[in-house]
Amino acid sequence: MCPPTHFRVDYAINPWMSTGSPVDAALALRQWEGLRAVYQELGHRVSELVPDPALPDMVFTANGAVVLDGVAYRARFRHAERAAEADAHAAWLTASGFEVRGGERISEGEGDFAVTEGAILAGTGFRTEPGAALEAQEVFGRPVIGLRLVDPRYYHLDTALFVLDDGADGGPADIAYYPGAFSDASLRVLRRLFPDALLATEDDAAVFGLNAVSDGRNVVLPAPAVRLAARLAERGYHPVPVDMGEFVKAGGSVKCCTLEVRG
Ligand code: ARG
Repeated sequence: MCPPTHFRVDYAINPWMSTGSPVDAALALRQWEGLRAVYQELGHRVSELVPDPALPDMVFTANGAVVLDGVAYRARFRHAERAAEADAHAAWLTASGFEVRGGERISEGEGDFAVTEGAILAGTGFRTEPGAALEAQEVFGRPVIGLRLVDPRYYHLDTALFVLDDGADGGPADIAYYPGAFSDASLRVLRRLFPDALLATEDDAAVFGLNAVSDGRNVVLPAPAVRLAARLAERGYHPVPVDMGEFVKAGGSVKCCTLEVRG
């Protein structure tokens, strides 16, 4: 995670951002500290990047890399405003002992990549370029499936899909997604790979409900996604609602503020 010390909406690079809507910095900090506390209470270790005053979106650490099997797949941001974040992540990951690879193709880390045991899912259409799926496949030696996003409000894969259970302990992987965010053909791919997935409603998606983090049991998700939380509970998960409203002003929420460091 990266503290929201310099978080603000200075530019607009997605439909949620409007330079006319000021961020309440004190509230943003309380919300971010609340999220960090939830992870710690759930027993997860949280490391922090040092925030850079020139990078107001740096709080969205999900975009910095994809980390798997001791290897970090380096991001390359689509917009110049965020480009320097990739180096900050790469420096931290290298210092933490990960082998940093890739970075030739435009790709925005876990914003557009979701990891399951059988395949890594890669969103494209707005930020990450299609060729990044093949680059990630070469970096990780795992199959990567490209999925086309078609609604600009859901410009990153992690705004429309998340992994509930990655299947790493042998069972089937379980995911949730909002069908309206994907092309018809990509929907057919998702149905084929995950016939039993939880299909979220537009109401859930529009409050960033899919921008959630699951450890396979506990699902940390934005509090306004009440219907999704109820359906997760019915499915046997433990929903943990958190308020991240200030970050929605920049087009982000729980998952965007979290880079999962696997292995
Ligand atoms: N303002 C940021 C951008 O548009 C938000 C990034 C949200 N991160 C995410 N993983 N979806 O790039």
